Amino acid sequence: MNLKQTTVEEIDHVIPKYPTKRSAVLPLCHLVQADQGFISNEAVEWIAEKLELQPINVYEVVTFYPYFRQKPIGKHHIRVCRTLPCALVGSYKICDKILEEFKCPINGTSDDGNVTVEFAECLASCGSGPVVLVDEKLYENVDDNKIKEIASHVSKNSAS
Ligand code: FES
Repeated sequence: MNLKQTTVEEIDHVIPKYPTKRSAVLPLCHLVQADQGFISNEAVEWIAEKLELQPINVYEVVTFYPYFRQKPIGKHHIRVCRTLPCALVGSYKICDKILEEFKCPINGTSDDGNVTVEFAECLASCGSGPVVLVDEKLYENVDDNKIKEIASHVSKNSAS
């Protein structure tokens, strides 16, 4: 596993805080995903070894929580809220337009690897839907103009 040194140090710092090693499985999954962008099979085995578990014990956690990804994502991560308040004000239509804009399948990544678009559950801004989270930036009341803003944010931050 090719983790950053700081991640390995944090992992070694976190494990002893738990009464049993296996209790640290969730924080380790978070740390590995933050480091790698996803949790590969290799990572599952690495975490299992670190916590003296069987890989299946880690795999069942990774597959239970939709937050954990088993595949890499694009350079930009777009999450469209689909929970009821946003759905009622058109988040599914907005999502279709975003998919068209970035030529990306839902819950997948564009061919150029630049953008991943996923549905998300409530993004904690229910009164201003449709809500879309692009990387760490929240877009509210998303309409066609905001989609253009999102496209501009993505293209500005992709040129390198
Ligand atoms: S329902 Fe969309 S932000 Fe809460």
